[in-house]
Order: sequence, then structure tokens, then C-alpha cells
Amino acid sequence: MASKVPVVKLLNGYTIPQIGLGTWKSKPGEVTQAVKDAIDIGYRHIDCAHIYGNEREVGEAIAAKINEGVVKREDLFITSKLWNTYHRPDLVRGALLTTLKDLGLKYLDLYLIHWPQAYKEGGDNFPTDENGKILVSDVDYVDTWRAMEPLVGEGLVRSIGLSNFNKRQVLRVLEIATVKPVTNQVECHPYFNQARLKAFCAQHGITITAYSPLGSPDRPWAKPEDPQLLLDPQLVAIAQRLGKTVAQVVLRYQIERGNIVLPKSVNKDRIASNFNIFDFKLSQEDVSLLDSFDRPNGRLVPMTASYGHEHHPFENDEY
Ligand code: A2P
Repeated sequence: MASKVPVVKLLNGYTIPQIGLGTWKSKPGEVTQAVKDAIDIGYRHIDCAHIYGNEREVGEAIAAKINEGVVKREDLFITSKLWNTYHRPDLVRGALLTTLKDLGLKYLDLYLIHWPQAYKEGGDNFPTDENGKILVSDVDYVDTWRAMEPLVGEGLVRSIGLSNFNKRQVLRVLEIATVKPVTNQVECHPYFNQARLKAFCAQHGITITAYSPLGSPDRPWAKPEDPQLLLDPQLVAIAQRLGKTVAQVVLRYQIERGNIVLPKSVNKDRIASNFNIFDFKLSQEDVSLLDSFDRPNGRLVPMTASYGHEHHPFENDEY
């Protein structure tokens, strides 16, 4: 069944639906129903990752909707991500095969390196020493990228890309790539709009995929005093003026910018209302107004666990 979602053309000619369902923090017991609801509502793009610990349950929902005849595999765009403990080149293919098995798929539409920084292989997903400090691996992400490329030729993935890479790191990948990254999936919302990274990536034909577009209110490290994007009085005023919810406004903001956007929800009504953003537009003035909400310290997902890692993307880099 075709969907009315607009698509963005990737540099390799494939297209990606501009809105996808996020599944980070969706509990295994909730995510199957959420993905089924999303597909019924019209979502055709599901964003997954091995580290989310729920790919089997996402796969159950995909299989159910294909078996019911609601969609065919080729109607769906499924993304997953290589976790930090599998960066060593000889581990990359096996990690993908695990994800494919969990999701019950023969191929992925998109496989991303989840983070540039590698962790010690072979143990926990967040391996730590006796002081709780992350145990690192010295694998360079450019070597991981070289191991991602053959997966395309094998037909196991259609496109490959990056996530949480800063400008310098994207450039290093581009310098050695024989298969170019199609997207950089990064945190992106009005408090942290990634304008500079977006402009840089655009120069190279690389799209921006916006994660935590709602300001990730369920991020585990949120403090009560942190600013709450969805309650921002200025955003509430804009939403009231347009007769929309704040969530719809900030999601539409990404659509206007040409980004791909990944709202997470496990609630059917919110999954539906987050998708209901194609019957209105934001004016250029409103987009500029939202642009002005960007804050120097607006990042909500800093990945403090691996501060000190030589390839940490955010610790020392401008953008
Ligand atoms: P829930 O899953 O219960 O709907 P982000 O996509 O930025 O990571 O944000 C996800 C968080 O936002 C989750 O806590 C999710 O809760 C909540 N959420 C999703 N959609 C909406 C919405 N339309 N209004 C308010 N909160 C939402």
C-alpha cells in the first residue's frame, strides 16, 4: 500500500520517507504494537538499532503487517545501526547478520555506524573497568567504514551512513569512501538545530536525519530543571496560532528544512498525531523564528559515558 509521506532522494538514487518511527527507549513489550500501529497509520520508515534491545519485537510487527497484506517489504524503509563494540572490521558483517535475523529481514534499507567511537569488543555493550570508565577499542571508524562498504555490494544493505559524526569525522570518511554515506543521523530540534553541520553535509549531498526531534523528554538522564522543548511558551504560542500541537510544529520544522525526522512514541494517538503534519506548512518567518531558538548548550544527548575517548564526536569539536 502506497503512503502519502514525502520522500527525500538520497545521493545513491534511493528514496527515504521523510518521517520515520523512532524506537530508542521503546520497551520490548510496547514496541511491537507501536510499530503495527505506525504502519497502519501510514508510516513506512522505522528507525532501529541493535543497542535499543528490541529489534526482535520490531521484527514481529513488520512480519505481522507483511503477513496481513498491509504492506510489502519493498514498501518499507528499515534502518539499523552498528553498535560501538562491533567496529572492528571482522565483526561488522556478523553484527549486521544478527540485526537482520532479529528483524526477520533479508536486507536493510540503511545501516549506520551508530557512533564514531569504538568500545572494547567481545563483552558488554557498555564495557567498563572497575571504576566504571568505558573500555575503549582503538579501531578507527574509517576502517569500520571500509568494512561497511562491501555490505552494499552483497545486497545485505541498500545504503550506508553515519550517526553522531561531527564535521571532521564526516570529512575523514569521505576522504576514503568508495561508497558514500547517504545521511548523518544526529540530534536535531529547535534548541539544537545543527545548522552548520547540515550546511556542511549538504555540500556533500549527505542528508540530515533528526533524532530526538521532540527534545527526547524520556531520555534517562533528564533532570527536572532541564528546559522542556514541548512546553516552551514561545512554541506553545506558535502552535496555538496554527491550531497544531507543539510536537506537530517542531516535526514540521524538520520537514520544511528538508531533514528526515524520527519522532519516537509508543502511544497510538501520539504516533498518529506526529504523522499528521502534511496538511499544513510553516511560513519562512516561522521557520526563521524556530531557527532563532538554537542554544549553545542545547544538546540533550551528549554521550557522557565515553567522554575522553579520542573519537568522541562532541567533546572537543566545534560541530
Ligand atoms: P510516548 O512514547 O509515551 O509517546 P523524541 O522523539 O524526541 O526522542 O521524544 C520521545 C518522547 O516524546 C517520548 O517520551 C514520547 O512518549 C514523547 N512523545 C512522543 N510524541 C509526543 C507528542 N505528540 N506529544 C508529547 N509527547 C510525545
